Amino acid sequence: MADLQGLKVAKDYHVNVPFANQNGFYLKGSNSLEWGMKRHLANIFNPKSGNTVMFAFDHGYFMGSTAGLERLDLLLPKLAPYVDCFMGTRGAIRTCCPPELTNAIALRVTSGSSMLQDDLSHEVVAVDIEDSIRMNADCMAVQTFIGADGQMSSLDNLNQVINAGMRYSVPTLGVCAVGKDMERTDRFFKLATRIIAEMGCQIVKTYNCDKFEEVVAACPVPIVVAGGKKLAEADALTLAYEVIQKGARGVDMGRNIFQSEHPVEMAMAVNKVVHEGFTDKEAYEFYLDSING
Ligand code: R5P
Repeated sequence: MADLQGLKVAKDYHVNVPFANQNGFYLKGSNSLEWGMKRHLANIFNPKSGNTVMFAFDHGYFMGSTAGLERLDLLLPKLAPYVDCFMGTRGAIRTCCPPELTNAIALRVTSGSSMLQDDLSHEVVAVDIEDSIRMNADCMAVQTFIGADGQMSSLDNLNQVINAGMRYSVPTLGVCAVGKDMERTDRFFKLATRIIAEMGCQIVKTYNCDKFEEVVAACPVPIVVAGGKKLAEADALTLAYEVIQKGARGVDMGRNIFQSEHPVEMAMAVNKVVHEGFTDKEAYEFYLDSING
C-alpha cells in the first residue's frame, strides 16, 4: 500500500529545460523505439514541425450519430489535405475513408460504453492487433479511465494493447478520459497522463488545464490535446495556440472542426497554428478570409 500520508507534492518540472533523452529521433520518448514504431510515429507527427493535426471522429462509438458526423463519407475527403491523421473506429474508417487517402490512421480499439449509461468507464479491447495491422493503423487508441470505477480494467486494456503493439511495432495512444464527475485540474492530469505514459504508450491524449506546461514537462511522451465541446472558432483557435505554446505536439480535435459551420476552413486554420506558427489571432483572420473567399 502506498504511504499517501508522506507523499511530497511534486513541484520542480524544469519547464524550460528540453527533454534530455532525445538524441536520434525528433519525438519525445521515442529514442529507443524500433524502426517500425518510429515510422508510424513519423506518419502521425510531421517530421518538419514535429506536430500533428489529428481529426477525431470516433464519437459515434459511444454517442451514435453525432451532429456534424452524419456523412463521414463526404467529410473525410474534404478534410484530408489539412489534417495529418484520422482518428476513428474501424467501422467508420473502413466504410467511409477512401484507402487512397494517405493520412495516418489512429484506430480506436476499445469500446463498451454508450452515452445511455451513467458510468462510461467500463470498456474492453474490441479490435485485435491483427485487424489493426490489416488496417495499416499508425497507432491504436485506448480510452483510459484513471480514478474511475473501471480504472483497473481500463489499465488492463491499455497494457494488453501496448503489449500487442510492442510485438508488431504499432504505437499506442492512451486517451486520458474525463468522466463527468472527475476533476479537470492540473493535479488530475499530471497523475493520469503520467500513469498512462508509464504503462508504456507512445502518445498521450489529454485536455488543456491550468499549468498545462507542467503536465507536458512531466509526461515523457508527446501529448496531443482534445478540443472538447464546441467553442466559437476564435476560442478553439486560442485553445490550439495555447497548448502548442505550452509544449503539446498537436491537437486531436473533433467537434471544434466538424461542428463548425465551415469545417474545412477551420481545419485549415488549426493546421496553420499547429504547423506554421500562426498565432490564434492570425489563424482566426486566416479563417475569416477563407470563409469570405
Ligand atoms: C473522446 O473520447 C474521443 O476520443 C474524442 O475523439 C475526443 O474527445 C476528441 O474529440 P473532441 O475534440 O470533440 O473532444
